Amino acid sequence: MPGLCVIGLQWGDEAKGKLVDWLAEGRDLIVRYQGGANAGHTVVVGEEVYKLHLIPSGIVNPGIMNLITAGVVIHPGTLLGEIDSLLERGVDIADRLQLSGRAHCVMPWHIVEDKIWNQVNSGDENIGTTLRGIGPCYRDKVGRSFAVRVSDLIQGGLEKQIHRITEYKIQSLAPFCENGEVDLDASQIFAEYRQYAERLRPFIADTTRLLLDAVDQDKSILFEGAQGSLLDVDFGTYPFVTSSNSSGVGVSSGTGVPGQWIGKTIGVAKSYSTRVGGGPFPTELHNDTGEHIRIKGNEFGTTTGRPRRCGWFDAVAVRYTSRLSGTDSICLTMLDVLSELKEIQVCVAYELDGQRIDYFPNNVDDLQRLTPVYETLPGWQTDITSARKLDDLPPNARSYAGRLSELCECPIEFISVGPDREQTIVLNPDESLLDSLVS
Ligand code: GDP
Ligand code: IMO
Ligand code: MG
Repeated sequence: MPGLCVIGLQWGDEAKGKLVDWLAEGRDLIVRYQGGANAGHTVVVGEEVYKLHLIPSGIVNPGIMNLITAGVVIHPGTLLGEIDSLLERGVDIADRLQLSGRAHCVMPWHIVEDKIWNQVNSGDENIGTTLRGIGPCYRDKVGRSFAVRVSDLIQGGLEKQIHRITEYKIQSLAPFCENGEVDLDASQIFAEYRQYAERLRPFIADTTRLLLDAVDQDKSILFEGAQGSLLDVDFGTYPFVTSSNSSGVGVSSGTGVPGQWIGKTIGVAKSYSTRVGGGPFPTELHNDTGEHIRIKGNEFGTTTGRPRRCGWFDAVAVRYTSRLSGTDSICLTMLDVLSELKEIQVCVAYELDGQRIDYFPNNVDDLQRLTPVYETLPGWQTDITSARKLDDLPPNARSYAGRLSELCECPIEFISVGPDREQTIVLNPDESLLDSLVS
């Protein structure tokens, strides 16, 4: 059975976790394949709220195997903390979680480096990372000389490897630390990671072989993207991006599953836009409406608690990422958050140096300079959180969703009207939102 992918179409936090949990039922495998504990995916089941950083959002569904594959960077302590907290809450993990020996470990020096580079690149140049050591870990992976893979944790030689790398890191980081003192101790790090290794040993596997076998056996696989396509290291708003391929292009490289086995991609997009950290954000609102969206949408980071920057839906950006990730349909989330607004604006084009353009520029300078061209749509000013089918939505809410679908050139398959599993509208293939557009 061709695999199904869930990919964020904006700057992350589009509610991918909710959709993955919703789609997980009846599947064989759920796969996290890039990023690391910079991700924070929320799954809400009734009163229970699960915040997952490394473990796939399918874990809450019983009986499904969850994989963390080669493209992920894993902080072992964070992963074990997540495992423990799920076990405490009665979620059965045993035999339901496997991680790739090929994945790379986030080490204490990566976190030290992430903090240093965030301080060095201040002001407008600040990426505002999650400080989870993600960029430095991927850099060492590509650099090859100072990397530690998950398989290294359980093979002989870890102590020597940690001492060698720590020595180098202390030397290279000393000029950036107060009094030249780098807070890294090789013996302590080895003691800590040896403990992690023993606890993680039963979960370590060859997930590449496992996945290729699953493909041969026609199993049902769901790939869970982290971050969003606009944070993709190659195709996002570089350098204000994360360090992995967070658009659809990362699925194959992160898992080892050939592209032809990826059958369907669902792009997740909020009904407005948010971004955490630095970088261009053409439709950002620095006014009461932006604040209203932040409060109504509870737009504070799942991983860092930072307030998210909020703005109008950018259809030029989402059309770009939807094409880039090859989305077959869109899951439009957080529509309920806009319910109190009298009017809603949507960015339909940009103006750059006096010219109207309808594409997403490929460099940050242009993105900083352009101004959005807006279309104004009427709000619905009715609570929609209990809507469960398309007909339950007020006509203006349907028209809004329909217009976004038209502008993004992609059908909408799901509309989310609240955090709970139940608060999900599934559109039948014969239900066209476009029919509901206000003429
Ligand atoms: P992810 O990183 O893409 O999985 O998204 P996050 O979990 O970081 O952020 C999404 C937040 O919105 C979480 O707190 C969800 O519980 C919540 N949420 C999900 N869908 C909806 C929705 O349709 N409406 C509202 N109001 N909240 C939602
Ligand atoms: P999920 O999976 C939102 C952002 C950071 C920063 C930039 C680089 O929950 O959608 P990094 O720590 O990756 O080096 O930070 O990327 N960022 C996210 N923003 N959601 C995420 O994940 C993010 N992961 C990273 O805020 O701007
Ligand atoms: Mg998140």
